Amino acid sequence: MIEPIAFHKTLEGKSNAHLITFNDGKDYVVKFFQPGFEKTLPNEWVSYCLARYLGLPVPFARLVEIPQEFSSKVPGLAGTHHTQYQFASLYVPDCFDGHQVSNVPHIINHKSLAGVILLDYWLYNRDRTRKNIVLCEETQGNFHLWIIDHAEVFDSYNWLESDLESLPEEVLKSATHQFMAQFIENDQSFTDYLELIQTIPILLIEEIVTLIPDDWMVSKEEKKAIVSTLVTRRKKILPELKGKFFKKVYQPLHEKND
Ligand SMILES: Nc1ncnc2c1ncn2[C@@H]1O[C@H](COP(=O)(O)OP(=O)(O)OP(=O)(O)O)[C@@H](O)[C@H]1O
Ligand SMILES: [Mg+2]
Repeated sequence: MIEPIAFHKTLEGKSNAHLITFNDGKDYVVKFFQPGFEKTLPNEWVSYCLARYLGLPVPFARLVEIPQEFSSKVPGLAGTHHTQYQFASLYVPDCFDGHQVSNVPHIINHKSLAGVILLDYWLYNRDRTRKNIVLCEETQGNFHLWIIDHAEVFDSYNWLESDLESLPEEVLKSATHQFMAQFIENDQSFTDYLELIQTIPILLIEEIVTLIPDDWMVSKEEKKAIVSTLVTRRKKILPELKGKFFKKVYQPLHEKND
């Protein structure tokens, strides 16, 4: 397992994410288990694995161990007890968030965008804000879009089992979804991603959930509830939400542009 070698800074935001260099020579954004935010790490883990399966542009991530002697030197972590594993996402350097760029003529990986939107609806991610995308300008006017921060899927960073059964089935208010929808060129990509989501083997979903580290304190019942929520939502609710999004957000945008 990779080991941390240098702490750089604590990043803005409520998760207290820390930028740390590891001995593989790479920088990672590390989120630690925090009381009051118990589901942050499980949410990140499950979302990351599903996004990777779908081939969506999520920075490479892994579970890491930070020795106490290292974390004791990190501001804000000294003296706090933390779990054996933390969630680390490969840092994407020299890029912008969605607030920082006003003119985006082209998104290179626009074919992934319908998948990002469907992932957010499947997991009920209300936090796809402009700060939770990363835009990297590869050549003038051509941006690669990354998705980050899945701490608030399943509606919150501290959901309870009963919340999962009643996740909303409404169109999300997200200026970032609107922004992304403008760049989608082919309606069919929503249907293709829906099919991809619906055909992920249940065994794989179970495996992802089983791999949540024990000391992140997700109970057996909660793990079961994650799997059944994912299976129920992808079958019945996601197709409906896709239709609603299409009508309410996607079509009006594209009519205007035609
Ligand atoms: N993989 C990454 N590459 C580059 N920057 C990142 C990455 N992950 C996080 N960041 C930066 O760190 C900030 C905080 O990370 P993140 O959004 O995941 O956590 P957060 O504290 O939950 O945020 P918020 O409070 O906005 O919900 C981001 O807004 C972004 O600027
Ligand atoms: Mg964020």
